[in-house]
Amino acid sequence: MKERVLSGIQPTGRLHLGNLIGAVENWVRLQDKYDCYFFIADLHALTTTYSDTKDLKEDIRQVVIDLLSAGLDPDKCVLFKQSDLPEHSELHLLFSMIIPLPWLERVPTYKSKIAELKEIDLGTYGFLGYPVLQAADILIYKAGYVPVGQDQLPHIELTREIARRFNGFYGNVFPEPKSLLTEFPTLPGTDGRKMSKSYGNTIAISDPPETIKKKVAIMITDPARVKREDQGHPEVCSAYEFYQVLAKGLTDTVAGECRTAKRGCVECKKELAKILIDYLAPLHEKRRQLEKDPAQLDKVIAAGADKARKIATQTLQEAKKAMGLI
Ligand code: TRP
Ligand code: SF4
Repeated sequence: MKERVLSGIQPTGRLHLGNLIGAVENWVRLQDKYDCYFFIADLHALTTTYSDTKDLKEDIRQVVIDLLSAGLDPDKCVLFKQSDLPEHSELHLLFSMIIPLPWLERVPTYKSKIAELKEIDLGTYGFLGYPVLQAADILIYKAGYVPVGQDQLPHIELTREIARRFNGFYGNVFPEPKSLLTEFPTLPGTDGRKMSKSYGNTIAISDPPETIKKKVAIMITDPARVKREDQGHPEVCSAYEFYQVLAKGLTDTVAGECRTAKRGCVECKKELAKILIDYLAPLHEKRRQLEKDPAQLDKVIAAGADKARKIATQTLQEAKKAMGLI
């Protein structure tokens, strides 16, 4: 029996290179070794997009395409959409009865997101309950491992606490999941900060070559390099960080030529744009194929929901029984 792995991603826009390197490529590797459940966390996306959902449906569709083009294989993993499984929401409600408010108020992402996304009113019931829904996502499949980034660790810890509290009240239903910390290099965005949707500094997996060229051209390089003949400091350059992650074999050459001013930033970034375009070319080809057959995408997601439902309904029944509801 393979151990079960589960993770989700929010459809808050096109997936970007940071998502690809930091999460999705890891999922693609995991699907060969584990019993994998991956899902589009559309209900979670509502916690921040609730006031304007006109793009949500298309964003969900695009994330499905992004994931499949990156190599998730519906024959190897269960790929589904969260809201297709009302069982998640029902378990979320059951959990909400037993979770003390301070457990949620002290989750670090709660305060940090409110501070970061000032333009959105996050003083909602749903946003406070975000990690409860995440716990339901994980526990309803009794997942053993949850691949996540550093920022999500408190959510996994809270999931373990919720499992313990539930089991303490009603008997052993939920195993405690472990996080599978994926320590991948974070890519900078075009402005030098961490690549993130909320900063608007991303390079999307689906960006066409022309867009990639433009975005790479405006990337922050060594600010001390004003003139072409100034010697550069690759260690402070965003473009160089990309070389370090995606073209390791070239880093020595690039760094050496930068330091001696043999290489100019314009040509250096042209070379980088080409590397990114080549890296994404097979994904773009796959995307073109997928775009041709929208009905097939719907089928894939419906089949994923059917598989997920088998486990989810069973666990929900167990939880309701344990609680004395049935
Ligand atoms: N909170 C996760 C994120 O923003 C997404 C997510 C929702 C998730 N439910 C999950 C991740 C369950 C892992 C397991 O990245
Ligand atoms: Fe960065 Fe390349 Fe310019 Fe050096 S030459 S500062 S590595 S873009």
